[in-house]
Amino acid sequence: MILYKHFDTNEKGHLTVGGLDTVELAQEYGTPAYILDENVIRENCRVYKQAAIDAFGADALPLYASKALCFTGVYRIAAEEGLGIDCVSGGELYTAKRAGFPAERIYFHGNNKTDRDIADAMDMGVGTFVVDNEDELAAVSAEAVRRGITQRILLRITPGIDPHTHRAIMTGNVDSKFGSAIVTGQAMRIVKKAIAADGVKLAGLHCHIGSQIFDVEPFAEAADIMIRFIAEIKKECAYEIRELNLGGGLGVRYTEYDREIDYADAIHKIAAVVTGFCRDNGIAMPRVILEPGRSLVAAAGVTLYTVGSVKEITGFKNYISVDGGMPDNPRYALYQSQYTALIANRAAAPRDYRATLAGRCCESGDLLGEDMEIQKAKRGDILAVLVTGAYNYSMASNYNRLPRPPVILVKDGKARVAVRRETYEDLVALDQF
Ligand code: LLP
Repeated sequence: MILYKHFDTNEKGHLTVGGLDTVELAQEYGTPAYILDENVIRENCRVYKQAAIDAFGADALPLYASKALCFTGVYRIAAEEGLGIDCVSGGELYTAKRAGFPAERIYFHGNNKTDRDIADAMDMGVGTFVVDNEDELAAVSAEAVRRGITQRILLRITPGIDPHTHRAIMTGNVDSKFGSAIVTGQAMRIVKKAIAADGVKLAGLHCHIGSQIFDVEPFAEAADIMIRFIAEIKKECAYEIRELNLGGGLGVRYTEYDREIDYADAIHKIAAVVTGFCRDNGIAMPRVILEPGRSLVAAAGVTLYTVGSVKEITGFKNYISVDGGMPDNPRYALYQSQYTALIANRAAAPRDYRATLAGRCCESGDLLGEDMEIQKAKRGDILAVLVTGAYNYSMASNYNRLPRPPVILVKDGKARVAVRRETYEDLVALDQF
């Protein structure tokens, strides 16, 4: 087992994912390639669904935040596992529609929905809009009135939590492009406008405090602030908020230095805050929605590359260059995100070499990691970067005109192509001149 039980080695010393030999997968599908263990995604969906129901009640629903990994197949998996989804753009909505995802279980997010987005989402019958601000409330209301419909909405609220210091602070997240803050009074103002607006039904509130968070405390704190706000709305407006969406953000183990998170335990701890407050204050328990992205899909993924040049710069670093890089995984370049890498064809050997993993773009920041523990590598080796299921394919680009890798789903000992590799033909297909 390497980090997770679905990553292991076989008798040849090769890395396996979901029991399949990654060296053979690289031969069959080429590199770079994203490999995903479908059972891991399904199992994570089940853990969230069961824990949400046990902790919050039978009507609790986790949504898959599909910005983490978006293609038609992943929406089919989410639908089959009984989850809802969070979409943030016309493109995600269109992909979900093509996958046949039930529209009533779609929550449409985003801080700046265009008029076209709003119209497209209403054409699709999207169940719930998460309205970010007063301009958007007016636009959604007007379009719904024009169509003679009542659109179910949540309002995005900023509880003022800094998840990395665990303190409720009044700046940080309040100064955000997302939502309306409670402390500035803007949240109460948009609530009142939403209650009074035509064409919309205010069903609930939403908050999202951040991503890759390991502590449960900031979530519990956010839940506490939100449920108190719901009580305040009841008092001040005589209006019952029936749904509370607590967003996503629970962290994922990328390296052996990261802790493991028990998601079910975290959900129970957050639920204790909400249920306790409702009981003590005579508030009806709202329907609770969760919105995990990363924690459903990240661990399922591994990216396979072929090693090209290996450079040892005397007195400086060792560089291992691979046939991908920031176009397929921009997370180190953007956030210095840490990963676990290994040589897939010698995966059982100790990682007793240190190297910087470089991509193939003409850009010195095109790195997948620096000073990483890995096996010594040579040209032609298969290099694996683990835990790439979230925010890799969905953030991939064609920088340097590199075609995007395929997404291969592994399940029960079989592999299938979920997204085919881009071709050079695909790259010029949109060019008109
Ligand atoms: N709900 C909302 C409203 C969100 O904005 C997000 C993530 C999620 C749910 C899901 O959060 P998760 O469970 O995945 O942490 N590109 C960055 C992550 C950006 C997250 C944006 N919002 C990265 O690669 O780390």
